[in-house]
Amino acid sequence: MKKQFKLDKSMAMYTEASKIIPGGVGSNARLMKSVCHEFGPCSIFIEKAVGSHIWDIDGNEYVDYRLGYGPVILGHSYKKIHTAVHKADEKGLVYASDNELMIDVAKKVIDFVPSIDMLRFAGSGTEATMGAIRVAKAFTKKDKIIKFEGHYHGWHDAVAFSTKPGYQSPREAIPASWGISKGMSQYTLVCEWNEPEEIEHIVKENYKDVAAIITEPVMGNCSAIPPANGYLNYLKELCEEYDIILIFDEVKTGFRLGKGGAQELFGVYPDLSTFAKSLGNGYPIAAFGGRKDIMELIGPGKVMHGGTYSANPVSLSASKATLEELEKDSVWAHLENYGKSMMKGIDEILDDHKIPHVVHGYPTIFQYLFTEKEKIINYRDLAHCDMKQFTEVQYELLKRGIMIDENGEEAIYTSYSHSKDDLNKTLEALNEAIGAMK
Ligand SMILES: Cc1ncc(COP(=O)(O)O)c(C=O)c1O
Repeated sequence: MKKQFKLDKSMAMYTEASKIIPGGVGSNARLMKSVCHEFGPCSIFIEKAVGSHIWDIDGNEYVDYRLGYGPVILGHSYKKIHTAVHKADEKGLVYASDNELMIDVAKKVIDFVPSIDMLRFAGSGTEATMGAIRVAKAFTKKDKIIKFEGHYHGWHDAVAFSTKPGYQSPREAIPASWGISKGMSQYTLVCEWNEPEEIEHIVKENYKDVAAIITEPVMGNCSAIPPANGYLNYLKELCEEYDIILIFDEVKTGFRLGKGGAQELFGVYPDLSTFAKSLGNGYPIAAFGGRKDIMELIGPGKVMHGGTYSANPVSLSASKATLEELEKDSVWAHLENYGKSMMKGIDEILDDHKIPHVVHGYPTIFQYLFTEKEKIINYRDLAHCDMKQFTEVQYELLKRGIMIDENGEEAIYTSYSHSKDDLNKTLEALNEAIGAMK
């Protein structure tokens, strides 16, 4: 008999957590506001995740397409990484000194991503973008950055602006958090993405003060919206012309869009890049790096970068094992096939049901949206998508054992562990879910 979908234990644990953990969640993004509408806001508490599947504490099993918001490129609890990490852990975690693994992994990253001459490791994507921005400011001796609406670069003050400012909000740097000093907004200029004229205008007006443009090369935090043809190239040209450092935040796209990330896919090489997530298949490791003449400014008495956990051997061992797997063409062939089939399958189901939609992105990071528009090109375009319907479908999918984020601004991620059975189950569930909605 089919098991009834319940979240009772998650709800109880969420209620208990709320008493001692602000908001009841370990990270703001984890609060499910609407998908559990039968149950109220909640967080689904997880028991375990193995391969492409994840189990919650109520015993529900799902095919996982959230994958920790992207890091799990190979699969959860991936045997080879698991073994490497346990072996490393037997030799200790933090030495306040370095280990040869740092050089091994740095060489691999440089080999995968040709724009990287030198790099430093960090503990999270937030630290990586913080480091990249600081070194860019030091190099250019300028104080401001330009970021784009709907792009997320972590939660530090320089970038916590206009991540989700509201589709009708004024076009200015809108703090994404309470507690950011008022003066900070003068250092972060905000621009709409994929609009060459707008960025050109802002750069021309402000270039004397602008140290860096930071961009996600694909809008990983806005439903995987792709860059318009030539747009990334145009950013590069603008930066070269106006002595601005171009930073690609590849925290989501790095080691996911391909071995060399988005920069390899689009053939546009930035001055600096940031990585995290798939760099360690989910183990806490990040990196920022790029041009030698810029990165050389990091050091005692120059640009500060630290971190008790930076370049720790356990995270590095996970990264080394991950990158060794990602050296195999067979891994990329599977990822490509799976993602393409899933995108095509979704497209066909929505066509069959005569629901206006867009499916955009790339085989390892993509999204479908309910919209009459032919293309969605930036954050404000999402106003033309029916996000309520999206969330309702996700709830129907959840009940059928498929976990896609409730928020259409997130993306669907695929991993090497997703199987043909997963694909069939997913498409069948979507077809049923759409039917149930009708
Ligand atoms: C593009 C991008 N940059 C930076 C970050 C911050 O990374 P972390 O959560 O590891 O601090 C994220 C997190 O999702 C991200 O998507």
